[in-house]
Amino acid sequence: MQSTLSALSQRVTEAIAEAFQLKPEDVNPRLTRSQDDKFGDYQCNAAMGLAKQLGQKPRDIAQKIVDQLKTDDLCEAPEIAGPGFINLKLTTEYLAGQLTQTPPNPDDAAASEQTGPVRNQTGPVRDRIGIPTVEHAETIVVDMSSPNLAKEMHVGHLRSTVIGDSIARILEFAGHNVHRVNHVGDWGTQFGMLLEFVRQTQPDALEQKGNLVINDLEKFYVQAKKRFDDDPEFADRSRKNVVQLQSHDPNTIAIWEMFCHESLRHCHAIYEILGVENLVDRGESFYGPMLGDVVEEFKTKGHATESDGALCVFLDGFTSRDGDPLPMMIQKSDGGYNYDTTDLAAIRHRIHEMHADRIIYVVGIPQKQHFQMLFAAAEKVGWSSDNNMLTHIGFGSVLGEDGRPFKTREGGSVKLKDLLDEAEARARRVVEQNVEKGGDRSHFDESTINHIARTVAIGAVKYFDLSHNLASDYKFNFDNMLAMEGNTAPYMLYAYARIRSIARKADTANTEENAATSTNAPIVLEHDSELRLARMILRFPEIIDTLLVDLRPNLLTDYLFDLSKAFNMFYDRKQGVRVIDAKPMNIRASRLRLCDITARVLKTGLNLLGINTIERM
Ligand code: ARG
Repeated sequence: MQSTLSALSQRVTEAIAEAFQLKPEDVNPRLTRSQDDKFGDYQCNAAMGLAKQLGQKPRDIAQKIVDQLKTDDLCEAPEIAGPGFINLKLTTEYLAGQLTQTPPNPDDAAASEQTGPVRNQTGPVRDRIGIPTVEHAETIVVDMSSPNLAKEMHVGHLRSTVIGDSIARILEFAGHNVHRVNHVGDWGTQFGMLLEFVRQTQPDALEQKGNLVINDLEKFYVQAKKRFDDDPEFADRSRKNVVQLQSHDPNTIAIWEMFCHESLRHCHAIYEILGVENLVDRGESFYGPMLGDVVEEFKTKGHATESDGALCVFLDGFTSRDGDPLPMMIQKSDGGYNYDTTDLAAIRHRIHEMHADRIIYVVGIPQKQHFQMLFAAAEKVGWSSDNNMLTHIGFGSVLGEDGRPFKTREGGSVKLKDLLDEAEARARRVVEQNVEKGGDRSHFDESTINHIARTVAIGAVKYFDLSHNLASDYKFNFDNMLAMEGNTAPYMLYAYARIRSIARKADTANTEENAATSTNAPIVLEHDSELRLARMILRFPEIIDTLLVDLRPNLLTDYLFDLSKAFNMFYDRKQGVRVIDAKPMNIRASRLRLCDITARVLKTGLNLLGINTIERM
């Protein structure tokens, strides 16, 4: 499946280059989707700009472009409108031809061997629906999730995990070489206190591997903090631990490693439930041995300035509230390093050792300035070459019903495990209701229901998160995310399962009819709802292209929602067409194939969001 927009852009570029004797690389075709179907599918706005440039009337320019335009195989005759817009409308033959060429689904062969209502399918997408990979694969680091190990992971890290994984999947789908890196906070002064608390409360922890078990990290932290505040002797020992940690005292390091291991176990339990794979833990401590060199490099290149005993990097354009220059501190006056130094070392490591072409940070908006300064510093010291290399994808906060930061009733942070468990329990009720309504329980034994409930629950939490604009805050609300109607995972998953059920029904219908229902049946488009669905399906490669430039998963959720609406219209008894009992046979085959391609786009699209589909619901 090719991107029609890019195919047409190329044609328009050629026409403009030809008409005005320009080099194609100097031409901007200014082709966009039409705002309104009645003007066609695409609109070229190049004439207005060229008119100024060439001192001619826009409509004349538009006419000259149209005279050169060779798009008969894609579009109806172009129309010039208004001051000089060129409207392009795809032909039915083009739409049908493109869909007919859709390659077969590699999963179909595998699926025919598997029986049962549920197909297992985590992992990367296999069905590309004919969408090509990019010409130049890049190495891309996605810095995501990255909780602090001193405490339990919170909802902000859930967002980073879900958004980061989706972005990683989209980049992988395009053919890039992606590294998901978990930049966990595993170093720093809080560990002195936590290690002391381990020493005192679990003195035999060191004796045997696996001895240290902390069921509630949050409580553990709170208790340790309280002891630290109340007991000066404990506080003193805690500070000594920090010193020992920094000087790599073997006993202290051993307890620290145990603690980090235990904390990471909590994180990975969540990643497992979420189906997030290939996330490599590389905590702040990993960069410890590199920090001295990083500071040295800033010094030798003349970018570090001493200020009150500390070493600072002054960056253009960053000022404090009073308008004074705001430096980035890379070494404290006591010789210690900080979050910024560590992040600088991480950039250097990722660019120089991992050979990253790009690094994408999926971290909440409150850290926006940290990343701006970090990127400016990396550029100043000469590590990052162009401003595309380092990107911060910031996101808004998760709020409670009251519009305040999401907390438990007692004001503590919400345990993600509890949250996901509750989502599952609620999803189960939704699924039970659905099955009840459907009337036929034969395909839904206990384990199937469990599988569906979990898929719906995790899908719902992820979809709800990803469907919001990245920058917006949102209110966490189970009822909204589990609603069967609207732009939600249950709606999308149900739409998918419904299409799959059409295929099953058709299969059992009449064997003579099925002979005509091959997976490469030519697509015939007659009815309005059919044409609308076809257009919507063919937008998928365009959406992928857009996503690669503008990494906003909500563009994909919006598209999938539009696609499923177009499908519902197509399948609607009144507004749409007959499918299983359509006549003649070639029309039936075409419509069944259209159903199948729709399901494939839904499945692939949901997979790029990290959401699994289910065959029955
Ligand atoms: N650990 C940090 C936090 O929980 C997020 C780290 C983000 N990544 C980074 N390279 N700074 O706020």
